[in-house]
Amino acid sequence: MAKIQMKTPLVEMDGDEMTRVLWKGIKDELLLPFVDLKTEYYDLGLPERDRTADQVTIDSANATKKYGVAVKCATITPNVQRMSEYNLHEMWKSPNGTIRAMLDGTVFRAPILVDGISPVVKNWKAPITIARHAYGDIYKATEMRVPKGKAELVFTDENGKETREPIYEFECDGVVSGQYNKDSSIASFARACFNFALTTHQDLWFATKDTIAKKYDGEFKAIFQTIYDSEYKSAFDEAGIEYFYTLIDDAVARVIRSEGGYIWACKNYDGDVMSDMVSTAFGSLAMMTSVLVSPDGKFEYEAAHGTVTRHYYKYLQGEKTSTNPMATIFAWTGALRKRAELDALPDLAAFSDKLEKACIATIESGTMTKDLASLWEKQTPAVVTSEQFLTAIRATFEQMA
Ligand SMILES: NC(=O)c1ccc[n+]([C@@H]2O[C@H](COP(=O)([O-])OP(=O)(O)OC[C@H]3O[C@@H](n4cnc5c(N)ncnc54)[C@H](O)[C@@H]3O)[C@@H](O)[C@H]2O)c1
Repeated sequence: MAKIQMKTPLVEMDGDEMTRVLWKGIKDELLLPFVDLKTEYYDLGLPERDRTADQVTIDSANATKKYGVAVKCATITPNVQRMSEYNLHEMWKSPNGTIRAMLDGTVFRAPILVDGISPVVKNWKAPITIARHAYGDIYKATEMRVPKGKAELVFTDENGKETREPIYEFECDGVVSGQYNKDSSIASFARACFNFALTTHQDLWFATKDTIAKKYDGEFKAIFQTIYDSEYKSAFDEAGIEYFYTLIDDAVARVIRSEGGYIWACKNYDGDVMSDMVSTAFGSLAMMTSVLVSPDGKFEYEAAHGTVTRHYYKYLQGEKTSTNPMATIFAWTGALRKRAELDALPDLAAFSDKLEKACIATIESGTMTKDLASLWEKQTPAVVTSEQFLTAIRATFEQMA
């Protein structure tokens, strides 16, 4: 059978440890036999980042800006222990942080659902996608531990004019925090969310605590509403989807009672906390996909999990591991589908859909990696190694019409 052709290269960002091993397996078993894969390859594995003084990460982000779609393998964020393990010249920054900053992106995380592994919340029927604003607020706050005395908020404008607001007159020891956000970043976040809702054809929910933080959260609410009304309302009406704003406490209550199937845009802290709750309640980190979307429509697809170090050390000792490749496969299919959409390649889009169906069908037939076995609610599962799992997916794929 002739291989499926591509037009524009995909930006391929290779990574580290067990996911690097899976990366090659996925390409060899599930992609290269069927697609004439066109990629521009960047090796973001830690040795190459160290050799290039992290230039390779910057180059890969620039390539994503140029071509528009990237797929990324999980990578090590170095810490003290990694410095000696890899004999590094410097403690390089997280590649995800660098890429996110260069693309000014918003991260969307969604679970992969299979019949036989039920969400803990029994009424959840469809994925809930969390969109986290990964900029500012408490993550960039300046904190102080203070004794008895007066705390004030002081702002000095460009001309040196000061504005002061009292915070609290401390009668005892206490703590103070100063946080900020920028209109431009909030606007980018809003546009990324509205665009993602349109591309994935899902309603968008957004929630803050604007009744309490009237100016701070009020600004988030106002910017979202202004951008929605002036730039997106007619496209949403045409697509038959809805933008819905509510208070964060009301949103939490509604999410728990909902059937899922929408995007939940969250401020930085809410997204941090809620994405862990949602991913755990849906099942497993190994079944969580992640895509970074920039406001000007660049996409970088990846798995939400890390490099699965524990399995990698076993692999280095010659052990066959049962590491789950699902989220990494879905990163590839997501990126190929987006490339297909941008380049008008229906065969490539159909391939991505079929491969995802084959992955899900393989698990639903009872063949799975070890992490899923304890969550499985049906017949005794066949627990297989990563290699066997990829072979099983290929067999399912080839049997499908
Ligand atoms: N996006 C990224 O590139 C990214 C994200 C998180 C962590 N990391 C890096 O990954 C390395 C390991 O970090 P960690 O252990 O905290 O996170 P991890 O996601 O690799 O593992 C966390 C836990 O989940 C399990 N797990 C995760 N993915 C799995 C899979 N596909 N199959 C089976 N089990 C799976 C692991 O066994 C482990 O118990 C670190 O060096 C960290 O810097 C990278």
